[in-house]
Amino acid sequence: MAVSVKDNIFSLETRNTLYQMKADEFGVLYHLWYGAKTGCSMDYLLDYPDVGFSGNPYDAGNRRNYSLDTLPLEYAGSGAGDFRIPAISVTHGDGSTALDLRFREYRLTKGKYSIPGLPAVYAGEDEAETLEIVLKDKASDVEVILKYGILEEADVITRSAVVTNKGSDAVVLNRVHSLCMDIPGGDWEWVHFHGRHNMERQAERMPLIHGIQESGSGRGTSSHQQNPGVLLCEKSCGENTGFCMGAVLMYSGGFQAQAEKDQLDQVRFVMGIHPGSFSWTLAPGESFYTPEAVLSCSGEGMAVLSQRFHHVIRNHVCRGKYKLGPRPVLINNWEATYFHFDQQKILDIARQASELGIDMMVLDDGWFGERDTDCSGLGDWFVNENKLQGGLQNLIAQVNGMGMKFGLWFEPEAVSEESRLYREHPEWAIRIPGRKPVRGRYQLLLDLSNPEVVDYLYHVLSKILGENHIEYVKWDMNRSFCDWYSAVLPRERQGEAPHRYILGLYGLLERLTRDFPEILFEGCSGGGGRFDAGMLYYCPQIWCSDDTDAHERTFIQYGTSFFYPVSAVGSHVSAVPNHQTGRSASLKTRGIVAMAGSFGYELDLNCLTDGEKEEVSRQVREYKEYQELIYDGKYYRLSNPFEDGMSAWSWVSEDRSRVLVHGVVFRAVPNSLRRRLKLSGLDKQAKYKVSDSGEVYTGAALMEGGILLPWLHGDDAAFELYLTR
Ligand code: GLA
Repeated sequence: MAVSVKDNIFSLETRNTLYQMKADEFGVLYHLWYGAKTGCSMDYLLDYPDVGFSGNPYDAGNRRNYSLDTLPLEYAGSGAGDFRIPAISVTHGDGSTALDLRFREYRLTKGKYSIPGLPAVYAGEDEAETLEIVLKDKASDVEVILKYGILEEADVITRSAVVTNKGSDAVVLNRVHSLCMDIPGGDWEWVHFHGRHNMERQAERMPLIHGIQESGSGRGTSSHQQNPGVLLCEKSCGENTGFCMGAVLMYSGGFQAQAEKDQLDQVRFVMGIHPGSFSWTLAPGESFYTPEAVLSCSGEGMAVLSQRFHHVIRNHVCRGKYKLGPRPVLINNWEATYFHFDQQKILDIARQASELGIDMMVLDDGWFGERDTDCSGLGDWFVNENKLQGGLQNLIAQVNGMGMKFGLWFEPEAVSEESRLYREHPEWAIRIPGRKPVRGRYQLLLDLSNPEVVDYLYHVLSKILGENHIEYVKWDMNRSFCDWYSAVLPRERQGEAPHRYILGLYGLLERLTRDFPEILFEGCSGGGGRFDAGMLYYCPQIWCSDDTDAHERTFIQYGTSFFYPVSAVGSHVSAVPNHQTGRSASLKTRGIVAMAGSFGYELDLNCLTDGEKEEVSRQVREYKEYQELIYDGKYYRLSNPFEDGMSAWSWVSEDRSRVLVHGVVFRAVPNSLRRRLKLSGLDKQAKYKVSDSGEVYTGAALMEGGILLPWLHGDDAAFELYLTR
């Protein structure tokens, strides 16, 4: 059993980690430990200082040293003597806001719990256990069930909470985090992934200072600006040494992750739905389910932590036919044509692609309605006959005739004011009556908190997908949310609209992925604006960024790799000069960088020289040859592009017999020594042969001394090494 309970101490053990809690004599639930297995109870570390201005619960009598403000709590209430950031805050029927949660009981079951209406890690009966800990606020009868999924082999703990109003008055939830834990003092550092459109997931690491460090999104999406994945690590933690823990929230809406270093240098860490755009009314008897946070930790540095997340996301989050197997190499027409294409143009691109070994033609934005620019047409999901004269079926038949699959772009959640749909149903768009809405990329969003809208989208999309041989869908979403208001919610429930939207979105995706299990869904939001584990439950890959510049991509993909597996990263070779930056990386470099993902091309292949076409066909063959190693191998970051002037990464097969090393050196330097690159994850005792040169070195030498990189010419030059044991 992964969970043992003794003297009200809960020990959740995975292969390499221990997560421990304790309910004390007052029913206060402590967080004792998350880290290496210790083989004992960690409550000996508890301390009870008498700290001035940290009050004492009434039931602790005269124990001045017993304070909720200083104890390491597992799920902090609010307004009851703990002044740190709460996990949950509520407003009761009488307007008061205190919530003092105490332990009631626990339940242990086999298998992994699921969450109604929300994506969650799944596992077989024998792969996971579920622990439920029931807490209650006695005065109000608000009950909180903390749920823990323990995936022993995967070294993963999941958390979520269910809040039930067992009282007789309505209660308003103002914040309900999925995860809360108090970590003992230490020099913790915080790593998060910030950015913007075309520049997502830039890794940033900083020491925690006293007060609150936050990473979050109030944009209604997980966002380009911050990602719902953060790490806390010891100062000394690096790729291959030191302790770190990470958490990702399986949620695609606004989120908040906070770490507060308190007066005693302890750290409280919380994560969940962003409370800034959330409130939820619980009538008597009603329950609220939080999204799930997925946790892992490693005592061997960040590489192992990332590998654990890659494993759990690939095996226990992604679903469907394409979850583990190879994905088709695709050609997308967006950067080749933007809105300016017709059937002939698309067929020309497809034909050339098929000759070079590419598997699938993806028709991007502009195929529907009156969509000749981004000012109009969204919502009108019927073919634009001016561009596609024979309709979709005719086009698809011709693409299929070339031996290629066909994929299609949609932006189902959006609507243009210039559209038939908006003229018929202006009330379906999110906007506040009496106010002009904010437009983003000229468009509005549909109110997916309205079941009628969700049903409509389901029927329109099912019809197109059912009537045409479409084998891939790119599900895009191109703006941030504001003007929150839903015509179907009463005044006191307007604060529920953002979360109800996400529930509507997930419900729609669930129905479509269930009905069309053969279709590969790729998520997208202006590139990687909704790159999160929630979307990965429905779409096993997500377009990583609208920035296809190979140099920039190495930074974006570096940040993405901390939590998300390579198979989740949509990555394409595009034309030079690059459309986002004007840079001109070689075709080799563009290929090497795009191969660290679900690979494809996004340019007019007919514009390439014969030599370049040959190189493309060689790249496609190479990718297919290595795809299994790239998806299933252990991924290592071999450099930090922000510090090392280069980006290098590798994949090592599970049995450590095959190693593929890829990288890009940013700047050519004259009169210099060759660069030395230390490899990771090899078998120290074994000998490895470098395939091009035939040289043989021990694993220990390659990891300790490194390997000399070949001479490289020009800026952003790529290299590739393949080693076998
Ligand atoms: C977004 C996507 C792009 C492309 C365009 C089409 O920006 O990220 O890949 O599909 O929309 O409008």
